[in-house]
Amino acid sequence: MTSKSIILAGGAGYIGSHIAALMLARDIDIIIIDNFANSSPVVFDRLERITGRRPKLIEADLASAQGAATVLDELRPHDIWGAVHLAGLKAVGESVEQPSRYYDVNINTTLNLINILDQLNATKLVFSSSASVYGAENKSPVSEEGVLSAANPYGSTKILNERLLADHARARSKWQVINLRYFNPVGAHPSGLIGEDPTGIPNNLFPYIAQVAVGRRPHVSVFGGDYDTPDGTGIRDYIHVDDLALGHLAAVDYLTNQNRGDVMPINLGSGHGHSVLEVISAFSRAAGKHIPIELVDRRPGDVAMSFANPSRAEKLLGWAATRSLDEMCRDHWRWQSGNRDGYRAAESNSE
Ligand code: WQD
Repeated sequence: MTSKSIILAGGAGYIGSHIAALMLARDIDIIIIDNFANSSPVVFDRLERITGRRPKLIEADLASAQGAATVLDELRPHDIWGAVHLAGLKAVGESVEQPSRYYDVNINTTLNLINILDQLNATKLVFSSSASVYGAENKSPVSEEGVLSAANPYGSTKILNERLLADHARARSKWQVINLRYFNPVGAHPSGLIGEDPTGIPNNLFPYIAQVAVGRRPHVSVFGGDYDTPDGTGIRDYIHVDDLALGHLAAVDYLTNQNRGDVMPINLGSGHGHSVLEVISAFSRAAGKHIPIELVDRRPGDVAMSFANPSRAEKLLGWAATRSLDEMCRDHWRWQSGNRDGYRAAESNSE
C-alpha cells in the first residue's frame, strides 16, 4: 500500500465512509472531500469511534469552480497518490426529474477533480461507476464487455464519466484509471455505527425493508410478481458494502503496483442473484420481525434479472465477495435498529 495521501472525494457518503473505515484501520493516510449534500458530518465522529483516527476533511463542493480552487489550495502541501472518486448525485428517479442538474454536478465534479490531480501531478484514480451502465439487452452474468446503454440520466452520467476518464488517461500517458462497476451495495459496518442513510423515501430495496422493519413505514411494495424468475420477483446481485470497500482497496493496491498508463472497467458483484422475496425473508429472519409486503405492478425500467460476472476482479485484483445475504441483512439491521433515523439524532446532540 502507498505512504502517500489518498483523496476520498465524496468520502462521507455510504460507500465512502466504509472505505474510509478500512483505510484508517490500515493506517493509510486519507483526505475526505465532501460538501455533505447527501451525507452527514457525524460520520467523522463515528469513524473516530471505530478506528481511533479522525480523517482530514476538506468541506467543499467539487462541482463548482470556487470549491475546486479551495480544494486545490488545501491539497498543495500534501503528497497525493490520486483519488477514489465517489462524489456525485445518485438517485435514479430524481435524475429523470432533474437531468440537467445530474449532468452538471456529476460531470463537473469529475472535470474539476481531473484538473486538480493534474495540477498535483497525481495520476491514479478509482471511479465509483455502476452496473446501471449496462443496457437491458445484456444477459446475466454480465461481463465488462457488456453493451453500454443507460436507462436514465444517472446511468448516462456514469457512462460519460467513464469515457471522460478513459479519454483523459489516453491523453496523459501516466494516468491510470479503474472504473469500478458496482452491482447492488447493501449492508453496513459490523459495528453498527455507519451505514446507509437515505434522505426522503428510499428508492432501493434494502433501505426500504429496513425502514419497514424499524417501524418507519407500513409495508414493502414488491415491484412485480410475474417476472420469468423462479418466484416471479426480480433478481439482483447484492454485495455487502464491506466487500465493496475491500474491492476499492484491492484496486488502489493494483494501481500502486502498476506504473503503466491504463484504463479499465471492473465489475464488483458477487456473481449470484437473490430475488426480492428471498431478500425480504432473509431480512425478516435477521431482524426477528414479520415484514408486511404488498405485491404491486412492475417498476418501469426494471429488468427481471441482473448479476455480475466478477471474474476480472478475481483475476486482476485477487478480490471476491465473501459475505452472505444473511450477513448483509444482519449488519444492515444492526445499523438501522441502532440508528432509527440514520444520523439525524446524533446531528442534534453532538457526540
Ligand atoms: C432491487 C430489486 C426492484 C424497491 C438501482 C439503480 C442502480 C443502483 C442501485 C445507485 C428490484 C425491487 C425495490 C422496492 C421492490 N443505483 N424493489 N420494492 O433497481 O437493481 O438498482 O439501485 O446508486 O443504478 O438502478 O436496485 O434496490 O432499487 O431494486 O420490489 O421498494 O428490488 O424491482 O427487483 P436496482 P433496487
